Amino acid sequence: MGAYEESYRRSLADPESFWLDAAAAISWTKPPTRALDDSAAPLYRWFPDGELNTSYNALDRHVEAGHGDRTALIYDSPVTGSTRSYTYAELRDQVAVFAGALKSLGVGAGDRVIVYLPMVPEAVVTMLACARLGAIHSVVFGGFAPKELAARIDDARPKVIVAASCGIEPTRIVEYLPIIEEALTLSEHRPERTIVLQREIAPAKLGERDLDWVALVADAQPADPVPVAATDPLYILYTSGTTGKPKGVVRDNGGHAVALAWSMRAVYDIHPGDVWWTASDVGWVVGHSYIVYAPLLIGATTVLYEGKPVGTPDAGAFWRVISEHRAKALFTAPTALRAIKKVDPDGTELVKYDLSGFRTLFLAGERLDPETYHWAHDKLGVPVVDHWWQTETGWPIAANPRGLEPLPTRPGSATVPLPGWDVRILDGDGVQQAPGEEGSIAIRLPLPPGALPTLWGDDQRYVDNYLSRYDGHYLTGDSGYLDADGYIFVMGRTDDVINVAGHRLSTGSMEAVLAAHPAVAECAVIGVHDSLKGQLPRGLVVLKAGVDIDESVLRDQLVAAVRRDIGPVAAFRDVSVVEALPKTRSGKILRKTMRGIADGRDEPVPSTIEDPAVLEALRPILRG
Ligand code: COA
Ligand code: AMP
Repeated sequence: MGAYEESYRRSLADPESFWLDAAAAISWTKPPTRALDDSAAPLYRWFPDGELNTSYNALDRHVEAGHGDRTALIYDSPVTGSTRSYTYAELRDQVAVFAGALKSLGVGAGDRVIVYLPMVPEAVVTMLACARLGAIHSVVFGGFAPKELAARIDDARPKVIVAASCGIEPTRIVEYLPIIEEALTLSEHRPERTIVLQREIAPAKLGERDLDWVALVADAQPADPVPVAATDPLYILYTSGTTGKPKGVVRDNGGHAVALAWSMRAVYDIHPGDVWWTASDVGWVVGHSYIVYAPLLIGATTVLYEGKPVGTPDAGAFWRVISEHRAKALFTAPTALRAIKKVDPDGTELVKYDLSGFRTLFLAGERLDPETYHWAHDKLGVPVVDHWWQTETGWPIAANPRGLEPLPTRPGSATVPLPGWDVRILDGDGVQQAPGEEGSIAIRLPLPPGALPTLWGDDQRYVDNYLSRYDGHYLTGDSGYLDADGYIFVMGRTDDVINVAGHRLSTGSMEAVLAAHPAVAECAVIGVHDSLKGQLPRGLVVLKAGVDIDESVLRDQLVAAVRRDIGPVAAFRDVSVVEALPKTRSGKILRKTMRGIADGRDEPVPSTIEDPAVLEALRPILRG
C-alpha cells in the first residue's frame, strides 16, 4: 500500500488518531484531548476542548523559534511599481500593533470586522490582527457592487470596516469609499467606524466616522494573542449560492489551522522557508487559505501579488514573479493561464526568465480543460496539478498529494480524494454509482477539520442547503464520477452557480436584477462556455405585454443594472429579448437544457416540457 492509500484509509477508519496526530503541528494554549465532537450531529465540531490563537501560530511561534529574520511576506505590485518584503518579526509586530488599534476601538473576541481591501500587505495584517484578538474577519472582494457589500454588512453586523482609499485595476482606479458610503445607505446595520488606508495614487476625503490607518496605528499599543476555543469562528467568507442571498461560510480556528498546515506539506509539498505563491485575491477562499494562513502557519514565505496575469505589464508577469522571488510553486486558476496563453501562445515571454527553482503548478477554482493542461505542462515542464475544492471546504477535497506520494496525473481528473474526504457519487435516489458512472458528488459526514461547521448565524440554512438532500452526506453541488482506480472527474455544477474567470457567482441573483426592470416579464440567466473565462452569464428576457422599448436601450440598461447591483466581476454583457422561455408543465424554466444547447451539446428535450416549439424557436439564439 502506498503512503497515500495508507493515509486515506487511516483518516476514514480512525479519524480521531489521524487528526490528533496532525494537530501536533499546531501550538495550542490548551492541546485538544479529543478530535471529533459528534454530539450535535449532523453539525460536527473538531477539537472541542482545544484552545489556540491562529495569529500566534502564523507569526509569533516562528519568531520565538528563532526564525524572526525569515521572510514571511513578499508584496509584489506591478500596478504600483513596488515590491516590499516583511520578515516574520516585522509582520508579527505590525499585526500586534494593528490588533492594538482595533482593540482601542473596542473590537474584541467574537466581534466582526469587514475587510474591504485590495491586495496590499495591510489586508494580511488586518486578517491576522483580527485573529489575534479572536475577532472574526469577513473579507469582501473589491469587484462587488455596493449592494453586495451591504448584504454582507447586514449579515455579519461588523463593529468596524477596514478599507483602502482605492483598488487599482489596470484600466482604472476603483475608489472604495463611495462604494462603502453607498453600501451603508442600503444596509440597516451601521458599523461604528471605517479605518481607511490612504493610498498615494488616490487618497480619499475622510468622513466623520472614518479613521486614518497611519494615525490610528501611531497611537496604538501592541496587543497579545488571545487564546480562543478551537471551535470559535476565525472568519466568515460569503459565497454565492443559488439565491441572491450570499451564504456566510464560517471557518473555525482549530480545525482550520490543523487542516491547512497538514495540506501544505502533504498536498503542496511546501515546507518551512520555501517560497510559495498563490495568485488569487484575499476576497476568495483560495486567497484566505493559501495566500495568508497556510503558508504562514508552516513558516513558509508567501507572495502577495497585486496585478493580473496579462497587461501588468505583459504576459510574462507570472514568470517574472516566479523567477524574481524564486517561488517553488504557483497556485492559480486555469483562467489566468488561458489569459497568458491567449496573448503569448508560444511562451516567448516564459523563456526570458529563470524558472529553474520552480517545481509545481497547482490549478483550481474551475474545471481545468485538457488544452490548458497540456499547454502549461509543455511550456513549463513541471507537474501540473488540477485540484478540486470549494469555499465551503476551505482546502482541497481532491488533489494529487505531491508531498505525501506523487501520483500519476490524468488530464481531466483532479486525481484522488484526499484523506478526510469520504467522496461518494450518488444518483437521484442516493444510490452509490459504479465506477465511471456520473452522479451527484456528495461527501459522507463528518467533513474533515477545516471544512465549514455551519453558515453564519443560521445552522438551519446550512442543514437545509447542504445536508438534507442525502441523509448523512454533504452535497457539493458538483457532478462527476470516480473511475475504476478511484480518480475523480468533476464535470460541473448541478445548480445555478457559475464560475466566471474563477469568480463564483449566482445566476439567480442576476435574474433578480433583470426581473426588477419594469419592462421585463420574466427572465433566465444561464452560464455558457467561454474560452477565456470558463463561463460567461447570458441573459434571456421576455418583455411585458404592450411594452415598447428599443431592444438595444433595454440591453444597455440591463447590463448596467447587473454591473451596478452585483459588480463588474459578473462580466454580464450578453442579453437577448425572446418571445418565451421553455418550461416544464409545472412551470420550471429549463435552464439546464438551454445551457446544454448554448454549449453546443446535443441536449435531449425533456419529456416534461410544456411546449417544445418554444425551445425550438430559441435554439438559434442560444447557439448564437
Ligand atoms: N476590484 C474592482 N474591480 C475588479 C476587481 C477588484 N478587485 N477585480 C476585477 N474587477 C473588475 C475588472 O476591472 C473588470 O472590470 P471592467 O468590466 O470594467 O473591465 C471586471 O471586474 C472583470 O474583471 P476580471 O474578472 O479580472 O476580467 P478581465 O477581463 O479584466 O481579465 C483575466 C481576465 C482572466 C485576466 C482575469 O479574470 C484573471 O486574472 N483571472 C484570475 C482570477 C482569479 O485569480 N480568481 C481567483 C480564484 S482562484
Ligand atoms: P469556489 O467556492 O469559488 O471555490 O468555487 C467552487 C466551485 O468551483 C466548485 O463547486 C466547482 O464547481 C468549481 N471548481 C473548483 N475547482 C475545480 C476543479 N479543479 N475542477 C472542476 N471544478 C472546480
